Amino acid sequence: IDQYAVFGNPISHSKSPIIHSLFAEQLKQRLEYTANLSDVDRFKQDIQHFFTEGGKGTNVTLPFKEMAWKMAEHLSEAAQLAGAANTLWMQDNILHADNTDGVGLVNDLLNNCGATLKGRHLLVLGAGGAVRGVIKPLLDSGCASIVIANRTFAKAKHLADMFSKLAEPGVIVAACEFSEISPTSHVDIVINGTSASIQGEVPPVPEGVVSAHTLCYDMMYSNTQTPFCRWARSQGAERVFDGLGMLVEQAAESFSIWRGVKPDTAPVIELLRQSLS
Ligand code: ATR
Repeated sequence: IDQYAVFGNPISHSKSPIIHSLFAEQLKQRLEYTANLSDVDRFKQDIQHFFTEGGKGTNVTLPFKEMAWKMAEHLSEAAQLAGAANTLWMQDNILHADNTDGVGLVNDLLNNCGATLKGRHLLVLGAGGAVRGVIKPLLDSGCASIVIANRTFAKAKHLADMFSKLAEPGVIVAACEFSEISPTSHVDIVINGTSASIQGEVPPVPEGVVSAHTLCYDMMYSNTQTPFCRWARSQGAERVFDGLGMLVEQAAESFSIWRGVKPDTAPVIELLRQSLS
């Protein structure tokens, strides 16, 4: 039976095994998917061991995405630009890596949240690894502009400089401080890619930026409403989503890379949502 796994630390709460089991059941694929605790000192060895034992593919989650990226012998374009990898597999004895987080976010926005990205103005909060992984796929979806706001401005500026070079002519990628986000600027979609929720915090977006028509998306999810989702609703936003759909969509992309077939994500998201509440 084909073996797959996710490596992370912590890992015990990972939903990947259940998600991939549901995909396998749906598509009648025979495979086993396990969650494995690793460690920075051991990660490389753990991955090498998994593949020498005949393992077919792995997901990689925090804090190993950059290590996986460094260790891969072949990187997809998405992984190259993300500077991090979440999907590994062996092909012709070469360790391949991809990053499916960005396409997972875009697919969730388009297919599950009913969002339009083409021609839209996006505000992205945060400039860490999670954000770096999603900017290019967002640009590829045809949005008109992306403003990256971050507590540490230099990090936002660095990402904006890097990705504006890759944007189509006329498409703007800019950086700013949270306090500089103007309530009068037109924002269609706000995506929270900060890890502020972990500390129960919300990035300080000025009042008036979000209103009823603004679609608000938190890349994090939790079994209760995330602080960002709660804040977005308090600002009057009517369409507010957390990152559970993104989690399932990025998994579906990994599954499709490994198995050549694409799962139907909607019933899996639905099931997970029920199990959370
Ligand atoms: P990840 O891999 O989750 O992106 P990261 O690379 O450490 O993790 O980035 C975390 C992001 O969340 C950063 O943009 C960070 O802002 P700084 O670059 O200024 O550190 C942001 N962040 C974390 N806690 C925050 C908070 N309480 N308020 C606002 N932004 C926060």
